[in-house]
Amino acid sequence: MIKIFADGDSLNQFAAETFIEIAGQAIKDGGKFTVALAGGSTPKSLYQLLTVDDFSSKIDWTKVFFFFGDERCVLPGAEESNYRMASENLLKPLQVAENQSFRWQTELEDAEKIAANYEQKIKTFFNLKENEFPRFDLILLGIGGDGHTASLFPFTEALKESQKNAVANLVEKLSTTRLTLTFPLINSARNIIFLVKGAEKAKTMQIILEGKFEPEKFPAQNVKPTNGELLWLIDEAAAALLRR
Ligand code: 6PG
Repeated sequence: MIKIFADGDSLNQFAAETFIEIAGQAIKDGGKFTVALAGGSTPKSLYQLLTVDDFSSKIDWTKVFFFFGDERCVLPGAEESNYRMASENLLKPLQVAENQSFRWQTELEDAEKIAANYEQKIKTFFNLKENEFPRFDLILLGIGGDGHTASLFPFTEALKESQKNAVANLVEKLSTTRLTLTFPLINSARNIIFLVKGAEKAKTMQIILEGKFEPEKFPAQNVKPTNGELLWLIDEAAAALLRR
């Protein structure tokens, strides 16, 4: 489903309400809520909104378990760390206990080791059997101008991953290795929400939602939950080129 909003504030308001609704239902049904957070800059204001009493008071945060859709190979205190952004704007203000958030252990330095460590964290938390994927209650995703999501970038190896939940992914155009959850994990989620804002995403959104299916070139096109809900929350600026 696609929902278009006049501006970022109304998008965040709806996103926060939806987050709380999914969380409440998950806690009611199964006693906990598992969420993989998006990185980048777009979700920051949503995380800040979730800590406002109107929203934060609606959830028993001791029953929420946070994972990270992707991470850069930087220490958790680095400026560009997705964990740091979420920690400063969501986890710390909500006083989330250490044992409720599972970050990529980037202090292990070697990207393959970090990914293997995260794979094990996910397997242990979700008590997974071999080749079984976890069913997150919610995965939040952003989208880059090149159509990447999480750190699943165009024409990179991670796009082909069919067995693992978490991998290291060499992104040549950035001259760096990123860390990312994989499509089999993402597409196993109960709910996936894309948060997309800004005119610089308009052309990408038109291609992703209305263009030719070319998932190698536009990886976000591969996000198709096998048994879950997919929700695109887009502001007017990013939706400017979409057919109405
Ligand atoms: C990252 C993100 C990435 C992000 C997009 C959009 O680590 O950068 O996980 O997938 O969602 O790049 O980033 P913005 O929200 O900053 O536009």
